[in-house]
Amino acid sequence: MKIITGIEELRDHLRDQPRLAFVPTMGNLHQGHLSLIHQAKQRCDAVVVSIFVNRLQFLPHEDFDRYPRTLEEDCRLLSAANVKTVFAPNEKILFPTKQEFLLALPPVADILEGKFRPGFFRGVATIVLKLFNIIQPDLAVFGQKDYQQLHIVREMVNQLNIPIEIIAGKTVRAEDGLALSSRNRYLSATQRLEACQLYQSLLQIKQEVITGCKDFKALETSAINHLVQRGWKVDYISIHNRGSLMPAHEQDQDLVVLGAAWLDSTRLIDNLEI
Ligand code: PAF
Repeated sequence: MKIITGIEELRDHLRDQPRLAFVPTMGNLHQGHLSLIHQAKQRCDAVVVSIFVNRLQFLPHEDFDRYPRTLEEDCRLLSAANVKTVFAPNEKILFPTKQEFLLALPPVADILEGKFRPGFFRGVATIVLKLFNIIQPDLAVFGQKDYQQLHIVREMVNQLNIPIEIIAGKTVRAEDGLALSSRNRYLSATQRLEACQLYQSLLQIKQEVITGCKDFKALETSAINHLVQRGWKVDYISIHNRGSLMPAHEQDQDLVVLGAAWLDSTRLIDNLEI
């Protein structure tokens, strides 16, 4: 496996690859990432995995500094998964000068995650576009766990005519339903037991909608109250239209319920398509 840090070296290395798949990550890899890589490998012979903790998508008070950086262990996992190319640049390589060109995003970037983490999707879209330009893959895989991110990357690719196919990677869950995430590592043993309640609340909503409940507001409020009573701080639990990702109307058919909530200082997100 080749671990490449420089842009020119990467471009040289990737020249003449027939079909190339790309899996962007911030490292601290787990089964969720490995399942994205597996999907990429099913579609293309060559897979590039990037590992870069992107400062642009963190607010000043967020966990950029304490975000787990585990490059050695990540590379061990990637090598075992038979990945041949890892792109692991440092900040000087991706931001040799201050990144002043930033994408302006549509209103969908200001709801849900964007409301609680202003500027987050601008940072994500900007780094993803940079990585797309550097790697120029034929396809890229993004986890469905970050549902709004996947939606925004798809919109960006469509509206900017970027010739890259975007593939949605299924969320991998622990046995109790908790979606795998690098941030799960912040949870204490008791919090870890509690953490699946976010998924359980989304599941409850999904079941009620499937059995005909159309009062989305009531469902959201009841899930929020349930979590708050158990000690969570809830940013949102919200039912949306899958196509537009805007808040759902009664007559909408394809829905997704999304949630973000805090257990003490750890913020978890999850979603379920309905
Ligand atoms: O989903 C992530 O890990 C990040 O947002 C991404 C896509 C690697 C961009 O930094």
